[in-house]
Amino acid sequence: MSDRAKSGEEAVLRWTSVVGARPQFVKAAMIGRAVRRHNAARPAVRVAETLIHTGQHYDPGLSQVFFDQLDIRPPRINLGVGSGPHGRQTAEMLTGLESALAADRPDLVVVYGDTNTTLAGALAAAKLGIPIAHVEAGLRSRNMRMPEEINRVVADRLAALLFCPTREAVANLKAEGLGARARLVGDVMYDAFLHYKARARADSRILAGLNLTPRGYALATVHRQENTDDPERLRALFEAFNRIAAPDFPLIIPLHPRTRNALRALRPRTALAPAVIVTPPISYLDMIALEAEAAVVLTDSGGVQKEAAFAGVPCLTLRGETEWPETVAAGINRLVGADPGRIARGVRAARTAGGRRGAVRGLYGNGAAADRIVDILAKRFGARAPERG
Ligand code: UD1
Repeated sequence: MSDRAKSGEEAVLRWTSVVGARPQFVKAAMIGRAVRRHNAARPAVRVAETLIHTGQHYDPGLSQVFFDQLDIRPPRINLGVGSGPHGRQTAEMLTGLESALAADRPDLVVVYGDTNTTLAGALAAAKLGIPIAHVEAGLRSRNMRMPEEINRVVADRLAALLFCPTREAVANLKAEGLGARARLVGDVMYDAFLHYKARARADSRILAGLNLTPRGYALATVHRQENTDDPERLRALFEAFNRIAAPDFPLIIPLHPRTRNALRALRPRTALAPAVIVTPPISYLDMIALEAEAAVVLTDSGGVQKEAAFAGVPCLTLRGETEWPETVAAGINRLVGADPGRIARGVRAARTAGGRRGAVRGLYGNGAAADRIVDILAKRFGARAPERG
């Protein structure tokens, strides 16, 4: 304990960040960096952050590589929950989180995004009466069949502070009567992109490794349940990829394990064209590097839609709706569903039109969302967090 703390001058806010799935590691990395910056400035309220990993993602390529590459401190505990049906997966997380949080009794729990880990973290904290902050709050697809939409709606309802990446997100919360808890701070994924893009360019060897030329390939990702668990949609998507890919214009697809398993189970099997290059899941820096130089990005991921927009690369979203409608309004993203004809036309149009750097300027803040979040939390919750022995 420092001298200041001993004299009772220093307040410490003890919070627990709950993470478990790939995109949460990126968001938590930025919050962790902002916490370190906050504490280095000798603030009135120091932040002591602990990480709990639910173990939702456990493959090294989906988890450990992010901790190593993005300098995330090891979690205090990994609950090792792993895969399973949503109910069981969430229930196991809830059981483990309840024990861990009841033992630690943090002043605050921070949850991120919209995964089952987010839902379990929010529920466990709410039942223990621990205040919750939700990072990336207020997003809505208005499709309640999506597990992520259920998770977002519940987490937002339970959280005391809702950190919104966009104006649209704030408006969504206002419409649900949650406007008083909303804070427009910008997007921590944009913070991450700005912070890591130069390092990705310098360090990533993935373009050379895959023999790719800038603007000479398409990049695709597919992992949403609505696409992987519907054999017709999955087949249609990979047929579209076969049509787009050509020897002089390969399509790269880093394959999520869920999608790999679903493809293996498809009957009759779908043969992939030689110019469709399948890789295992890749690291954040390799992904940023591939996105930045692609001619077009095709995805059903929310994070990848935005990263394409940050890089000024046209995106085709393989869904019927998006939580990021401002990318569509800015003309850099198009909703094409799983229709091979629309996808192929979209790729032609994107290749002709090219990218639009700066298309998203001002939509996602200025790269300091994480700092704002830490400051707001220290002010709001620090006052009632005296130093504990
Ligand atoms: C989860 C999130 C999604 C997020 C995505 C990022 C939910 C409901 N969904 O989807 O919002 O965009 O993470 O990747 O929380 N699997 C492995 N190894 C792993 C993890 C998963 O093989 O390390 C396989 C298993 O077959 C598992 C399947 O992937 O059954 C689904 O994993 P799960 O964590 O339930 O959801 P994701 O599809 O990854």
